[in-house]
Amino acid sequence: MSFTVAIDGPAAAGKGTISRAVAGRFGLAHLDTGLLYRAVGKRVLAGAAAIDAARRLTPDDLSADDLRTPDVAQAASKVAAIPEVRAALVDFQRAFARRSGGAVLDGRDIGTVICPEAEVKLFVTASPEVRAERRLKELRDGGHDTDYETVLADVRQRDARDTGRADAPLRAAEDAIVIDTSAMDIDTAVAAAIAHVSRKY
Ligand code: C5P
Repeated sequence: MSFTVAIDGPAAAGKGTISRAVAGRFGLAHLDTGLLYRAVGKRVLAGAAAIDAARRLTPDDLSADDLRTPDVAQAASKVAAIPEVRAALVDFQRAFARRSGGAVLDGRDIGTVICPEAEVKLFVTASPEVRAERRLKELRDGGHDTDYETVLADVRQRDARDTGRADAPLRAAEDAIVIDTSAMDIDTAVAAAIAHVSRKY
């Protein structure tokens, strides 16, 4: 059986938690596609050329340490605007989506570009302020010393880059179900996502 759940949305909207919960509940494999762009971004910060780094990416690169830092996130959103980088990462994502047993992929363009035929498409979003609060907590819990204004500026800058780029901009697919988590706790958001997937699974 091939059953694909596409979960898109901006940074820190709750996509990661929701994707892991949906994958766990339905026994699906999960790919956080942001890690692909982060792994390329990390290589670029170390001096590599972006397109070359994308073409050479291996699954092992996705489990590298320190892909979750703000610097790597910024580098990721820059390399993600390069069409050749995106093109180099398409096959890996589509092959993952076709895994027997089904898969959840989360990112920015899964429902629109990578898996337009996905059985379920969710667009998980929240206000920039709420997302910045959540990201600030995550970063502090992870030992990063930062403040709300810095994180909010980072969120806004990545939003602008991700929605403004010409190739595969961040947007909800026409047939996506929008879950706005601004005023929801994470358990409610997860329950809503699972209810939507249950209708199709
Ligand atoms: O989701 P995450 O914050 O890890 O993604 C890092 C960056 O990678 C995003 O800001 C975005 O620019 C890029 N990205 C993308 N398409 C995806 C997943 C991530 O352009 N499917």
